[in-house]
Amino acid sequence: MLALSLLALSLFPYAFGIPDAHSAHTTTHRIHARNIVAQNQVNDTYDFVIVGGGTAGLVLASRLSEDSNTTVLVLEAGDTGDAVAGTIDTPGDAYYQSLLNSGYDWAYPLVAQPQANNRALTWARGKLLGGSSAINGMYYVRPSQIEVDAWANLMTSTDPAATSKWGWDSFYAAMKKSETFNAPSGSIESAANIEFSPSSHGTSGPIHAGYPGYILPIVGSWIPTLAAVGVTESPDAYGGQGWGSFIATSSINSANWTRSYARSGYIDPLPPRSNLQLLPNATVTRLIFGNGTASNNLTATAVEYASSKTAAKKTVNVRKEVLLAGGTIGSPQILMVSGVGPKDVLTAAGVQVLSELPGVGQHLQDHLSTGLVYKTTSQTAASMHTANNFGSVSGGSAAFLSFVNSATAYVNLTTLLGNSAQSFQSSVLGAIDSSATSLSPSQDSTVLAGYKAIYNVSAQQFLSSPVGHIEILLSLTGTPIAGDQIIAVQVGLQHPFSQGQITIKSPDVFDYPTIDPRYLTHSADVQILREGLKFARLVAQTAPLNQTLTGEVSPGSTVNSDADWEAWLANSVGTEFHPSGSCAMLPLNQGGVVDSELKVYGLANVRVIDASAFPVQFAAHLEAPIYGLAEQAANLIRAFYNAEAPAPTTSSSAPAAATQTPAQHSGTIGLRDGRWELMGSIVTLVVLAASTLL
Ligand SMILES: Cc1cc2nc3c(=O)[nH]c(=O)nc-3n(C[C@H](O)[C@H](O)[C@H](O)COP(=O)(O)OP(=O)(O)OC[C@H]3O[C@@H](n4cnc5c(N)ncnc54)[C@H](O)[C@@H]3O)c2cc1C
Ligand SMILES: *[C@@H]1O[C@H](CO)[C@@H](O)[C@H](O)[C@H]1NC(C)=O
Ligand SMILES: *[C@@H]1O[C@H](CO)[C@@H](O)[C@H](O)[C@H]1NC(C)=O
Ligand SMILES: *[C@@H]1O[C@H](CO)[C@@H](O)[C@H](O)[C@H]1NC(C)=O
Ligand SMILES: *[C@@H]1O[C@H](CO)[C@@H](O)[C@H](O)[C@H]1NC(C)=O
Ligand SMILES: *[C@@H]1O[C@H](CO)[C@@H](O)[C@H](O)[C@H]1NC(C)=O
Ligand SMILES: *[C@@H]1O[C@H](CO)[C@@H](O)[C@H](O)[C@H]1NC(C)=O
Ligand SMILES: *[C@@H]1O[C@H](CO)[C@@H](O)[C@H](O)[C@H]1NC(C)=O
Ligand SMILES: *[C@@H]1O[C@H](CO)[C@@H](O)[C@H](O)[C@H]1NC(C)=O
Ligand SMILES: *[C@@H]1O[C@H](CO)[C@@H](O)[C@H](O)[C@H]1NC(C)=O
Repeated sequence: MLALSLLALSLFPYAFGIPDAHSAHTTTHRIHARNIVAQNQVNDTYDFVIVGGGTAGLVLASRLSEDSNTTVLVLEAGDTGDAVAGTIDTPGDAYYQSLLNSGYDWAYPLVAQPQANNRALTWARGKLLGGSSAINGMYYVRPSQIEVDAWANLMTSTDPAATSKWGWDSFYAAMKKSETFNAPSGSIESAANIEFSPSSHGTSGPIHAGYPGYILPIVGSWIPTLAAVGVTESPDAYGGQGWGSFIATSSINSANWTRSYARSGYIDPLPPRSNLQLLPNATVTRLIFGNGTASNNLTATAVEYASSKTAAKKTVNVRKEVLLAGGTIGSPQILMVSGVGPKDVLTAAGVQVLSELPGVGQHLQDHLSTGLVYKTTSQTAASMHTANNFGSVSGGSAAFLSFVNSATAYVNLTTLLGNSAQSFQSSVLGAIDSSATSLSPSQDSTVLAGYKAIYNVSAQQFLSSPVGHIEILLSLTGTPIAGDQIIAVQVGLQHPFSQGQITIKSPDVFDYPTIDPRYLTHSADVQILREGLKFARLVAQTAPLNQTLTGEVSPGSTVNSDADWEAWLANSVGTEFHPSGSCAMLPLNQGGVVDSELKVYGLANVRVIDASAFPVQFAAHLEAPIYGLAEQAANLIRAFYNAEAPAPTTSSSAPAAATQTPAQHSGTIGLRDGRWELMGSIVTLVVLAASTLL
């Protein structure tokens, strides 16, 4: 059903765009194509070979090549994206002309999920320069300090300095380093009840984040409605307290309302760099390890790649390190086909075990989402889109197209469960050992210890804290199936107790791996999601939001009891697009794959730097933390090789800083605008497809 509805989205026959943006974009790429090379321009050897030119990979490429003495090659499986530049750049196209299910989407199939009605779900992932940041919802949210510190604390037993690398202060600085914040105009700020603190944002980083150019009036009802149901507004959601309700920023450049993503931020604005090359259409097939190194200290000497399953394989030599940035699926898959991973998995797939590492592909976690749909009398992004009346909105089409759903709330367990929150927490904590035994997909003792460590953090430190367990998000983008005059209140589970795994089927990287997130296998996840859905219905029934809603389309009045909700959610949940954890940063004796320097255990010179490294899930969408992870990784790598590491929050080296100053931005934001949200609406399609078509 997910596949069907996403297909419907991508085939939706709207073809609006911004002519100016299209032509400007072409120019941009012609200018900046210099670092993108063809196979015959590739040198024999590089200091760093980066595997995957996605969100994290391009940050690393940009930062490491700031040092002119360091040579860097990026191998990216997908194409450049130039042929669809206008679609990538136009934020509204993420809804109405999506690249999902095109050749730019891996569209990885999942194993049928028994707790989700055995549906054939799919994980979208970007397959092009920029990776998932080129196709995502641009929704830009940070995790909170409690979550980030909990992650760092998982590593202090093996590295007392872990806090200085991944604790809040460092990680916050790294996230800020990647950001240029665009403040809202006064009219947008008041119309949407936006609260923000400029000091919590970056001022000169490559990725632009800000508020849209037009706010639909219904967004103004969000903050007071949430307050009426006991969820207070966060005065500063980006400074470590990302809970409560708030109006989120999006990764959009307000100078021209274009998507700001890893390629446009970190690569295109670079001056000529003879030490940096990016090779598209290059799928890494395996890492090659040198002979004569101890089996607990394998050294990668080369990387093998090919343009297709049948094409001849090429190799490129590595002087310093291989940096895996293939994403939550790609990175563990590459390790496994290279002989690094769980022995049973590798042996079954016919891969010789070179370095046994039980945690590779384990501890897989994702946010699950679904939503309630209501008819509305108010203006929606979809209704404006269909009427094509962008020009009637002050600010015009460009500002309108900047619209991304932005009203959100991260709701804690006390709000969801009231007096039962404490007993719920006790029972989850009491089930830790039995859950590990019955629910962990691997019974390796170290992986079980990791399952428990992750579970314990969530149960001990998150359930009783202000951290949100459910994200509630207002989606105004409509769907081709349910029409334009609808809104959705979406609900996403943020800290799952269910953990899954990724395994390989064969030694050939072109064969997709087996992905089994084991959604909702832990009953706590079902209960939290169910209570989140009930809470979302309460939100929709509360003033002032309820004043423009005229009836629940889905699930509708027949769904009321706990059993009803559980049956309904099993048939409607889908990914919120945030899988992580498959090469988790954890101690080796807890099934860890990378240490606190992101180095793979047992390998001398390979790191994993992407969403797979996060050991716990955050109540946040992942792009902002991934930019922070990659910025901090570049700091650590440069510090390791060069005592003159860049200052943590330097601006002179930020590629985008020279082209745009914050002051210039505020001039352009005076336009009024409208805004949609991104990710949620895709899930909405699923809901509608499931509930209104069947
Ligand atoms: C549809 C969608 C919507 C989303 N919406 C949001 C949102 O609104 N806000 C938000 O914060 N997050 C969102 N996310 C999540 C976020 O975009 C991702 O978590 C993040 O971009 C992942 O970054 P990464 O570096 O881990 O991997 P990616 O950016 O996916 O990069 C991995 C790269 O590695 C390449 N690769 C893989 N295997 C190989 C190989 N063997 N050889 C060579 N290259 C390889 C891939 O082609 C890709 O370019 C969304 C994701 C998706 C898919
Ligand atoms: C948008 O503006 C930025 C900053 O001014 C510029 O670098 C980029 O090329 C522009 N993009 C398009 C598509 O015009
Ligand atoms: C680059 O190498 C040259 C020559 O070896 C050296 O003088 C210079 O300091 C190096 N620069 C950096 C940034 O390491
Ligand atoms: C490729 O090799 C040439 C010749 O040695 C060198 O000048 C250039 O800097 C190299 N490029 C990269 C990206 O390593
Ligand atoms: C990548 O491969 C596709 C499909 O073969 C091709 O159309 C495209 O031109 C290639 N891109 C580059 C940069 O070579
Ligand atoms: C390692 O040694 C084997 C056997 O001598 C040889 O076939 C292989 O090419 C060597 N690998 C490397 C990376 O040198
Ligand atoms: C691992 O091997 C590399 C060379 O391949 C060597 O430089 C390094 O010292 C070794 N590390 C350990 C801990 O043996
Ligand atoms: C669980 O977390 C608590 C505190 O957060 C800690 O004291 C305890 O050691 C942890 N237990 C396990 C099994 O990790
Ligand atoms: C949960 O949120 C509510 C309202 O925002 C707040 O009053 C309460 O203290 C929070 N609970 C915890 C445990 O922090
Ligand atoms: C809207 O919610 C308020 C309470 O917030 C309630 O009094 C009112 O009856 C509701 N209106 C509708 C139409 O549901």
